[in-house]
Amino acid sequence: MATNASFAGKTAIVTGATGGVGSALAKKLAEDERMKVAMADLDQEKLDQVAAGINGETLPKALDVSDRDAYTALMDEVEGKFGPLDYLCNVAAIMPINDFDAEDDALTHKIIAVNLEAVIHSTKEAARRMKARGSGHIINVASGAGWLAGGGVATYVGTKFGVVGYSESVELELQGSGVHISVVAPAVIKSEMSAGLKDVRGVRAVEPWEVADAIIGVMRKPKFATFVPRAIGAMSLGFSAVPYRLRHKLMSLSKTDKLLLDADRSARKEYEERVAASARDDE
Ligand SMILES: NC(=O)c1ccc[n+]([C@@H]2O[C@H](COP(=O)([O-])OP(=O)(O)OC[C@H]3O[C@@H](n4cnc5c(N)ncnc54)[C@H](O)[C@@H]3O)[C@@H](O)[C@H]2O)c1
Repeated sequence: MATNASFAGKTAIVTGATGGVGSALAKKLAEDERMKVAMADLDQEKLDQVAAGINGETLPKALDVSDRDAYTALMDEVEGKFGPLDYLCNVAAIMPINDFDAEDDALTHKIIAVNLEAVIHSTKEAARRMKARGSGHIINVASGAGWLAGGGVATYVGTKFGVVGYSESVELELQGSGVHISVVAPAVIKSEMSAGLKDVRGVRAVEPWEVADAIIGVMRKPKFATFVPRAIGAMSLGFSAVPYRLRHKLMSLSKTDKLLLDADRSARKEYEERVAASARDDE
């Protein structure tokens, strides 16, 4: 992707910055686009390692996005160091796989806090700052699961539907303000979050850098929803318009209704344990 001169020197926050998409995005923004990039994720050591591999201006900062005060403090720090926040990229999320009624309450709360409440809080915080200046862009990473349900990830799906509905509602309020909000919706990404998942027929699993490129494309030319790969847009929007009874029948026949429950649990063990521990830590 060609460098856009107008990005150089602009400020961005990227959450989930040591994960698949977040680390690829931070690198591209700081190295290729010469932006000043605050990188937020849970583990400072990992952040420092990822930032050390980036040839550009970064601020690696440990943050649990579900800590509202800490997220606000990060925005203050970033604006103090780098100048006004131009782009907020909410990439961080968790996706544990569970039977819905066996999911521990603390874990349910953590999924909502990270995937949805943090997006809402940071959108409000960033938009207030951006509206005052009449410019800025918030990009919330959603998912095809923001339009289509799936067994085994009921809470995750609930949060991603929430991210899409919340962001679109905010977009309606922001019209004419000079500030944009977008969602980027991948299907399956080859990252730790999707470890052990079975292939979905007809859906190509994408590389994290492809999602990063899609986010940069949206930053370059704002539009509300972008799907990665593009083909899953028609699938998500079209299939979500199919009447419920038929849709559920088709999902049952194609065995996609409970596909995630068939994931290889041993391949996900480390991820699931880490996410569960982060929920217990909050109690
Ligand atoms: N992986 C997929 O198949 C897939 C599919 C559709 C959508 N998505 C979405 O894409 C985005 C990126 O996912 P990914 O594939 O890079 O996953 P990933 O697991 O590689 O990265 C997620 C990052 O978020 C961080 N994180 C988790 N909880 C946090 C918290 N409380 N505070 C701060 N950081 C936290 C993790 O440490 C991790 O580095 C997510 O929003 C995800 O929901 C992923």
